[in-house]
Amino acid sequence: MSIVDMATPNVVYAPELPAHDTEIEDINAEAFGPGRFTRAAYSIREGGPHRRDLSFVALSGGAVIGSVRMTPIAAGEGRALLLGPLAVRPAFKNLGIGRKLVALALDAPRREGWALSILVGDAPYYAPLGFSKVVPYGQIAMPRPVDPARLLACELVPGALEGFAGAVVHADLAKQTAAKGGLKAAAE
Ligand SMILES: CC(C)(COP(=O)(O)OP(=O)(O)OC[C@H]1O[C@@H](n2cnc3c(N)ncnc32)[C@H](O)[C@@H]1OP(=O)(O)O)[C@@H](O)C(=O)NCCC(=O)NCCS
Repeated sequence: MSIVDMATPNVVYAPELPAHDTEIEDINAEAFGPGRFTRAAYSIREGGPHRRDLSFVALSGGAVIGSVRMTPIAAGEGRALLLGPLAVRPAFKNLGIGRKLVALALDAPRREGWALSILVGDAPYYAPLGFSKVVPYGQIAMPRPVDPARLLACELVPGALEGFAGAVVHADLAKQTAAKGGLKAAAE
Protein backbone atom coordinates (compact mmCIF):
# COMPACT_ATOMS: atom_id res chain seq x y z
CA MET A 1 0.00 0.00 0.00
CA SER A 2 1.41 3.43 -0.85
CA ILE A 3 -0.30 6.77 -0.42
CA VAL A 4 0.24 10.10 -2.17
CA ASP A 5 -0.81 13.42 -0.64
CA MET A 6 -1.72 15.96 -3.35
CA ALA A 7 0.08 18.69 -1.35
CA THR A 8 3.41 16.89 -1.99
CA PRO A 9 2.90 14.78 -5.14
CA ASN A 10 6.54 13.64 -5.24
CA VAL A 11 6.35 12.11 -1.77
CA VAL A 12 4.93 8.63 -1.26
CA TYR A 13 3.79 7.34 2.14
CA ALA A 14 3.90 3.65 3.02
CA PRO A 15 3.94 1.32 6.01
CA GLU A 16 7.45 0.76 7.31
CA LEU A 17 9.51 -2.24 6.15
CA PRO A 18 12.69 -3.79 7.62
CA ALA A 19 14.56 -2.44 4.57
CA HIS A 20 13.91 1.11 5.86
CA ASP A 21 15.64 0.56 9.23
CA THR A 22 19.08 1.99 8.42
CA GLU A 23 17.70 5.15 6.84
CA ILE A 24 15.25 5.65 9.73
CA GLU A 25 18.10 5.31 12.22
CA ASP A 26 20.05 7.97 10.24
CA ILE A 27 17.06 10.34 10.22
CA ASN A 28 16.54 9.95 13.97
CA ALA A 29 20.24 10.43 14.68
CA GLU A 30 20.18 13.62 12.62
CA ALA A 31 16.97 14.89 14.29
CA PHE A 32 17.59 13.96 17.93
CA GLY A 33 21.36 13.33 18.29
CA PRO A 34 22.88 11.02 20.91
CA GLY A 35 20.51 12.43 23.58
CA ARG A 36 17.73 10.28 22.10
CA PHE A 37 19.04 7.21 23.93
CA THR A 38 18.41 8.77 27.35
CA ARG A 39 14.77 9.78 26.74
CA ALA A 40 11.85 8.22 28.62
CA ALA A 41 10.15 7.19 25.37
CA TYR A 42 13.33 5.47 24.13
CA SER A 43 13.53 3.48 27.36
CA ILE A 44 9.94 2.23 26.87
CA ARG A 45 10.66 1.33 23.25
CA GLU A 46 13.64 -0.75 24.38
CA GLY A 47 11.14 -3.16 26.00
CA GLY A 48 10.06 -4.66 22.69
CA PRO A 49 9.37 -4.12 19.01
CA HIS A 50 7.28 -1.38 17.41
CA ARG A 51 4.35 -2.22 15.13
CA ARG A 52 5.77 -1.87 11.62
CA ASP A 53 2.32 -2.14 10.06
CA LEU A 54 1.17 0.91 12.07
CA SER A 55 4.44 2.84 11.50
CA PHE A 56 4.94 4.89 8.34
CA VAL A 57 7.69 6.29 6.16
CA ALA A 58 7.67 9.14 3.67
CA LEU A 59 9.70 8.36 0.54
CA SER A 60 11.09 10.66 -2.10
CA GLY A 61 12.84 9.14 -5.13
CA GLY A 62 12.92 5.85 -3.20
CA ALA A 63 14.77 7.37 -0.20
CA VAL A 64 13.23 7.61 3.25
CA ILE A 65 12.81 11.28 4.11
CA GLY A 66 10.47 10.99 7.08
CA SER A 67 9.42 8.41 9.63
CA VAL A 68 6.99 7.84 12.47
CA ARG A 69 6.84 4.75 14.63
CA MET A 70 4.10 3.30 16.83
CA THR A 71 4.92 1.04 19.78
CA PRO A 72 2.34 -0.89 21.84
CA ILE A 73 2.47 0.12 25.51
CA ALA A 74 0.60 -0.73 28.70
CA ALA A 75 -0.27 1.06 31.95
CA GLY A 76 -2.25 -1.03 34.41
CA GLU A 77 -5.00 -2.73 32.41
CA GLY A 78 -4.86 0.02 29.77
CA ARG A 79 -3.28 -0.38 26.34
CA ALA A 80 -2.15 2.36 23.97
CA LEU A 81 0.33 3.17 21.22
CA LEU A 82 3.36 5.33 21.90
CA LEU A 83 3.86 7.64 18.93
CA GLY A 84 7.46 8.43 18.02
CA PRO A 85 10.07 9.09 17.07
CA LEU A 86 8.68 11.41 14.41
CA ALA A 87 11.30 13.03 12.21
CA VAL A 88 11.56 14.56 8.75
CA ARG A 89 14.79 15.26 6.84
CA PRO A 90 15.66 18.98 7.12
CA ALA A 91 15.45 19.52 3.35
CA PHE A 92 11.81 18.37 3.41
CA LYS A 93 10.57 20.26 6.47
CA ASN A 94 7.51 22.51 6.46
CA LEU A 95 5.82 20.73 3.57
CA GLY A 96 3.21 19.02 5.72
CA ILE A 97 5.05 15.66 5.74
CA GLY A 98 5.24 15.41 9.56
CA ARG A 99 1.52 16.20 9.83
CA LYS A 100 0.65 13.57 7.22
CA LEU A 101 2.79 10.91 8.94
CA VAL A 102 1.00 11.57 12.26
CA ALA A 103 -2.40 11.41 10.55
CA LEU A 104 -1.53 8.03 8.98
CA ALA A 105 -0.13 6.74 12.29
CA LEU A 106 -3.43 7.58 14.02
CA ASP A 107 -5.82 6.44 11.27
CA ALA A 108 -4.36 2.93 10.97
CA PRO A 109 -4.76 2.05 14.69
CA ARG A 110 -8.17 3.75 14.81
CA ARG A 111 -9.33 1.33 12.10
CA GLU A 112 -7.89 -1.56 14.16
CA GLY A 113 -9.86 -0.53 17.23
CA TRP A 114 -7.07 1.04 19.29
CA ALA A 115 -8.42 3.63 21.73
CA LEU A 116 -5.42 5.79 22.69
CA SER A 117 -2.07 7.15 21.59
CA ILE A 118 0.38 8.97 23.81
CA LEU A 119 3.69 10.71 23.13
CA VAL A 120 6.31 12.98 24.61
CA GLY A 121 6.65 16.05 22.40
CA ASP A 122 5.96 19.70 21.69
CA ALA A 123 2.31 20.56 22.41
CA PRO A 124 2.25 23.46 19.91
CA TYR A 125 3.05 20.98 17.12
CA TYR A 126 0.81 18.11 18.23
CA ALA A 127 -2.24 20.00 19.55
CA PRO A 128 -3.65 20.72 16.06
CA LEU A 129 -3.16 17.00 15.29
CA GLY A 130 -5.47 15.93 18.15
CA PHE A 131 -3.14 15.64 21.16
CA SER A 132 -3.54 17.38 24.50
CA LYS A 133 -1.75 17.35 27.82
CA VAL A 134 -2.27 14.28 30.02
CA VAL A 135 -4.29 15.54 32.98
CA PRO A 136 -3.71 14.75 35.77
CA TYR A 137 -0.02 14.33 34.92
CA GLY A 138 0.48 11.84 37.80
CA GLN A 139 -1.98 9.41 36.24
CA ILE A 140 0.80 8.03 34.03
CA ALA A 141 4.27 7.23 35.38
CA MET A 142 6.95 7.32 32.71
CA PRO A 143 10.18 5.38 33.38
CA ARG A 144 12.19 8.61 33.39
CA PRO A 145 11.19 12.17 34.29
CA VAL A 146 9.24 13.98 31.57
CA ASP A 147 8.22 17.64 31.37
CA PRO A 148 4.46 17.49 32.21
CA ALA A 149 3.77 19.99 29.42
CA ARG A 150 5.19 17.49 26.91
CA LEU A 151 3.29 14.36 27.98
CA LEU A 152 0.43 14.30 25.45
CA ALA A 153 -2.45 11.98 24.61
CA CYS A 154 -4.83 11.57 21.69
CA GLU A 155 -8.04 9.65 22.45
CA LEU A 156 -9.04 7.62 19.40
CA VAL A 157 -12.07 6.58 21.43
CA PRO A 158 -13.47 9.35 23.65
CA GLY A 159 -12.71 8.77 27.35
CA ALA A 160 -9.93 6.23 26.67
CA LEU A 161 -7.32 8.10 28.72
CA GLU A 162 -9.23 7.41 31.93
CA GLY A 163 -8.47 3.70 31.61
CA PHE A 164 -4.75 4.22 31.10
CA ALA A 165 -3.14 4.70 34.51
CA GLY A 166 0.04 3.59 36.25
CA ALA A 167 3.60 2.84 35.17
CA VAL A 168 4.05 2.82 31.40
CA VAL A 169 5.91 -0.17 29.95
CA HIS A 170 6.17 -1.86 26.57
CA ALA A 171 3.05 -4.02 26.11
CA ASP A 172 5.21 -7.15 25.71
CA LEU A 173 6.69 -6.61 29.19
CA ALA A 174 3.20 -6.27 30.67
CA LYS A 175 2.21 -9.53 28.94
CA GLN A 176 5.29 -11.34 30.32
CA THR A 177 4.61 -10.01 33.83
CA ALA A 178 0.96 -11.14 33.62
CA ALA A 179 2.04 -14.59 32.37
CA LYS A 180 4.54 -14.92 35.25
CA GLY A 181 1.85 -13.85 37.72
CA GLY A 182 -0.48 -16.48 36.25
CA LEU A 183 2.16 -19.22 36.58
CA LYS A 184 2.92 -18.15 40.15
CA ALA A 185 -0.78 -18.17 41.03
CA ALA A 186 -1.15 -21.63 39.43
CA ALA A 187 1.81 -22.90 41.51
CA GLU A 188 0.44 -21.53 44.77
C1 LIG B 1 8.87 18.24 14.06
C2 LIG B 1 8.99 17.73 12.62
C3 LIG B 1 8.75 16.24 12.59
C4 LIG B 1 7.93 18.45 11.78
O1 LIG B 1 7.95 17.90 10.48
P1 LIG B 1 7.53 18.79 9.22
O2 LIG B 1 7.25 17.89 8.09
O3 LIG B 1 8.52 19.86 9.00
O4 LIG B 1 6.19 19.45 9.80
P2 LIG B 1 4.91 19.96 9.00
O5 LIG B 1 5.31 20.44 7.64
O6 LIG B 1 3.86 18.94 9.10
O7 LIG B 1 4.46 21.18 9.91
C5 LIG B 1 5.21 22.34 9.88
C6 LIG B 1 4.65 23.32 10.90
O8 LIG B 1 4.95 22.84 12.21
C7 LIG B 1 5.71 23.83 12.90
N1 LIG B 1 6.64 23.12 13.78
C8 LIG B 1 7.68 22.34 13.44
N2 LIG B 1 8.29 21.87 14.55
C9 LIG B 1 7.61 22.37 15.60
C10 LIG B 1 7.77 22.25 16.99
N3 LIG B 1 8.73 21.52 17.53
N4 LIG B 1 6.89 22.91 17.78
C11 LIG B 1 5.90 23.66 17.25
N5 LIG B 1 5.70 23.81 15.92
C12 LIG B 1 6.57 23.17 15.11
C13 LIG B 1 6.41 24.59 11.80
O9 LIG B 1 6.81 25.86 12.23
C14 LIG B 1 5.31 24.66 10.75
O10 LIG B 1 4.38 25.64 11.13
P3 LIG B 1 3.44 26.37 10.01
O11 LIG B 1 2.62 25.28 9.34
O12 LIG B 1 2.61 27.30 10.83
O13 LIG B 1 4.39 27.03 9.08
C15 LIG B 1 10.37 18.06 12.01
O14 LIG B 1 10.58 19.44 12.11
C16 LIG B 1 11.51 17.33 12.67
O15 LIG B 1 11.91 16.26 12.23
N6 LIG B 1 12.07 17.92 13.75
C17 LIG B 1 13.14 17.32 14.49
C18 LIG B 1 12.66 16.12 15.25
C19 LIG B 1 11.57 16.46 16.25
O16 LIG B 1 11.68 17.41 17.00
N7 LIG B 1 10.54 15.58 16.30
C20 LIG B 1 9.50 15.56 17.28
C21 LIG B 1 8.65 16.75 17.35
S1 LIG B 1 8.30 17.09 19.07
